Amino acid sequence: MAKILLTGGAGYIGSHTYLALVEAGFDVVILDNFSNAKLDVPNRLQNIVGDSVTVVNGDVLDRGVLDALFADHKIDGVVHFAALKAVGESVEKPLDYMHTNVGGLLNLLAAMDAAGVRRIVFSSSATVYGDTDVQPIPEDHPRTYTSPYAFTKIAGEQILEQLTDDWAVGILRYFNPVGAHKSAMIGEDPSDIPNNLVPYIAKVATGDLEQLGVFGDDYETPDGTGVRDYIHVEDLADGHVLSLKSLIETGNSHTVNLGTGEGSSVLDMVRSYSKACGRELPYQIKPRRDGDVAVLTARPEKAKVELGFEATRSLADMCRSSWAWVSGQIRNDRD
Ligand code: UD1
Repeated sequence: MAKILLTGGAGYIGSHTYLALVEAGFDVVILDNFSNAKLDVPNRLQNIVGDSVTVVNGDVLDRGVLDALFADHKIDGVVHFAALKAVGESVEKPLDYMHTNVGGLLNLLAAMDAAGVRRIVFSSSATVYGDTDVQPIPEDHPRTYTSPYAFTKIAGEQILEQLTDDWAVGILRYFNPVGAHKSAMIGEDPSDIPNNLVPYIAKVATGDLEQLGVFGDDYETPDGTGVRDYIHVEDLADGHVLSLKSLIETGNSHTVNLGTGEGSSVLDMVRSYSKACGRELPYQIKPRRDGDVAVLTARPEKAKVELGFEATRSLADMCRSSWAWVSGQIRNDRD
């Protein structure tokens, strides 16, 4: 059974990928510094899989931690999530983003190289395409950055592209991941007021926030609100399993979009979430948010051809699973 190091494995996408990897038969070691994950996530994972979870509490910037980890475990490949991910914050703290996202990747690659581990799946983002009218976006679209966060993702991809042929690299460009695990025991859990649409709607649904502000209804889209390619986080997690399997089986590198290819508007999401939670969620039209584009959708075919990946879960599944997770959290808090 192949053994995988999962950096950032207690985070939102990382924890769902942990479950998908275990389900696929991989042995997984999590490395996380819990800077943006709750300490009880490993316990929750343990309850779901019914087996012990191996977690190292440490930082990808700490070479000593990495060397000890590779010495203690015979790792066959790495899935690298550990990074900072807030676009707005990256504008305020560009050096922090460069240090953690680019420095962390370099540190990890050096430790992997020293240990002779040369397979890595890298968390990239549709943010590398910048602001473009080409929709849906193919992978060969030029990269450009509109924030320090996006810069770090492009830099990460470019660093990985310089590696020698004995490396196998999977670069996965996520569109908009939403939803939660079917167990409703893990999900997205932002501690501040959320910036992203679905976590914000979820807090309106629970009554923690009064109403959603819809950022613009005058875009050139069917209902005037922004259109995105939302992908269920469990589909995204499955994409990582397929990426890793492909690296192990073929030794070839790949760069693919992980999206559905379908666009949904802000109002589509409000309707679908309202249905999931059983009441009409209030919203108010607000001005456009700076830096937002009208439409962002993936061309999903390359991931299908190269990895056999296809998203199967619907917008309704995304909203139902999100609601099951956040409403369960409210019950826990009351107990
Ligand atoms: C954002 C990030 C992107 C990241 C993605 C993760 C920015 C500029 N981009 O994308 O790098 O990969 O999250 O999911 O931050 N909206 C509202 N009201 C809200 C929040 C959002 O109307 O309170 C609208 C937005 O205008 C947009 C859509 O909902 O049309 C989606 O927004 P959001 O969830 O923030 O994602 P993105 O901006 O697409």
